[in-house]
Amino acid sequence: MNQRISDTAASAAPDYVKHSKMKAWVAEVAALTQPDQIVWCDGSQEEADRLFSLMIKAGSMVKLNPAKRPNSYLVLSDPSDVARVEDRTYVCPKSAEDAGPNNNWEDPVKMKETLKGLFKGCMRGRTMYVIPFSMGPVGSPIAHIGVEISDSPYVVVNMRVMTRMGRNVLDQLGADGEFVPCLHSVGHPLEAGQGDVKWPCNQTKYICHFPETREIWSFGSGYGGNALLGKKCFALRIASTMARDEGWLAEHMLILGVESPQGEKTYVAAAFPSACGKTNFAMLIPPKAFDGWKVTTVGDDIAWIKPGNDGRLYAINPEAGFFGVAPGTSDKTNFNAMATLKENIIFTNVALTDDGDVWWEGMTKEAPAHLIDWQGKDWTPQIAKETGRKAAHPNARFTAPASQCPSIDKDWEAIAGVPISAFVFGGRRSTTVPLITESFNWNYGVYMAATLGSETTAAAVGEQGIVRRDPFAMLPFCGYHMGDYFNHWLKMGKSLSNAPRMFTVNWFRQDSDGKFMWPGFGENMRVLKWIVDRCSGRASAHQSLLGWIPGYDDLDWTGSDEVSREQFEKLTQVEQQAWRAELKLHAEWFDKLKDRLPKTLQLEKELLEIELSE
Ligand code: GTP
Ligand code: SPV
Ligand code: MN
Repeated sequence: MNQRISDTAASAAPDYVKHSKMKAWVAEVAALTQPDQIVWCDGSQEEADRLFSLMIKAGSMVKLNPAKRPNSYLVLSDPSDVARVEDRTYVCPKSAEDAGPNNNWEDPVKMKETLKGLFKGCMRGRTMYVIPFSMGPVGSPIAHIGVEISDSPYVVVNMRVMTRMGRNVLDQLGADGEFVPCLHSVGHPLEAGQGDVKWPCNQTKYICHFPETREIWSFGSGYGGNALLGKKCFALRIASTMARDEGWLAEHMLILGVESPQGEKTYVAAAFPSACGKTNFAMLIPPKAFDGWKVTTVGDDIAWIKPGNDGRLYAINPEAGFFGVAPGTSDKTNFNAMATLKENIIFTNVALTDDGDVWWEGMTKEAPAHLIDWQGKDWTPQIAKETGRKAAHPNARFTAPASQCPSIDKDWEAIAGVPISAFVFGGRRSTTVPLITESFNWNYGVYMAATLGSETTAAAVGEQGIVRRDPFAMLPFCGYHMGDYFNHWLKMGKSLSNAPRMFTVNWFRQDSDGKFMWPGFGENMRVLKWIVDRCSGRASAHQSLLGWIPGYDDLDWTGSDEVSREQFEKLTQVEQQAWRAELKLHAEWFDKLKDRLPKTLQLEKELLEIELSE
């Protein structure tokens, strides 16, 4: 049986597959995992439609009402498989030291043995899909190609939206092009006659990266970043090691463009941790009073950034779609996202309305009278009141083609990327961190980003609302030692003659009643405009202990009556006492990096400590 399938694998490849190494890898994986059949994905609409029908027939997907939401689908996952599993995520270079304290590590030889044990026969009774994909436009010199093998049709249809996927990628690779092999299984084999479940997965989960051989093995989960391997696994964890070796940056950043009424265009890249506002910021619609100002979207989650010949940094979005947080998304908070979601969408773990459409908390002011919630149960506002049960899971997501976004930048697929004028770093902090600060210089900016803290969210399994250090919003995504990563950033700064300015923001500061003090969303434009104006030397600020901070009159308040002068003072206040405590947390975090912490950052910390003690 084993032998037969392995033979089929090689011969089953379509004629247009010329890559013998890839064919051999596919055959090898088939021999190990023993699927019933192998399908090479071509990326066509027919193929996607066939898989949608298959999943609907299997009861694992619902087609939404075409009159409400054309060509769109809803999938409900198993309640045990709803987010990234950081404690099951491993980075496995030969030396534990190279993985750093920021990663789980296991010896690569040992880990491969464990994985081989798990993958043995794991696709029995299932179809194995071969998914060739490009991160970045196909054929672009900055794009990188991967091939994901998966036994999940849900993964196939999502990868088709999130990446450039299909036959043209194989054509691009030719007979011997380089690709990152990405192996994925839900880890739920079916014995003869055994029926499938709606969302197959396995209690045992391993999301493993081998940076030295540039391989990814993922077992047991079908959800998001655990399973769509082009995203966090490839475009961040593996790509960050490629970037370190080759002198560029792979970052957890959105990319947006700001156009002034005079037609001046400024691009900004911003790193916020998961579920902390990247998609929202990337699609921002300026307040009405900002006549003639426009924000355009290049990407909402990942940026690959390379130095240009002019001493500037240029960024591309390696993805082709948005895998965005649904709860909280509404016409009011993110009109562009709502417009993007009109058709051709895959929804996961949102609620189903009685007329065959979707709903989630925050979409409308009033909830519908009846829903089927993300666990397939009846839901009414009354039930919610009594039990606290949410209609949508807090990490419910939409998978949407970026091309459908009304604010998509005209250069979002430009091969050369867009020039970055500012880096913005932000977290979710109910206290301590001011609304906006500009760094004194590059090295201090690296310090601010390296010590970024944020309260944990539903994007990862685990306790929520706990402040943790999330340097550069990359704690779960950096594929090597965080100390080396900081050093790489310091080095990049030195090599640039026209480096971006650096800023930190915090949209999430709360008052003593636990209410957000800053209105956020479109109102973030006031801060964004100040950032852009600082980049061109047009806006004023005063020097604080932490960096340059605008006074109330330095921001444009046209058409606003929401934030008083007094409230703004509170939003931008630097409380010495709180910052002394914060610095202790910086010290604890730096201690973990031991001798790989760049001296420069240690000195930046000491300088700040002196300032704060005075
Ligand atoms: P990932 O896709 O997990 O990387 O998340 P993200 O960084 O793209 O976060 P996203 O924009 O999806 O926002 C996550 C949550 O934060 C949503 O529920 C938003 O409504 C909320 N949010 C976003 N921006 C703001 C803001 O300016 N203020 C407040 N209060 N909430 C915001
Ligand atoms: C994140 O958690 O930062 C996401 C969602 O963007 S996932 O694709 O699951 O990583
Ligand atoms: Mn993300």
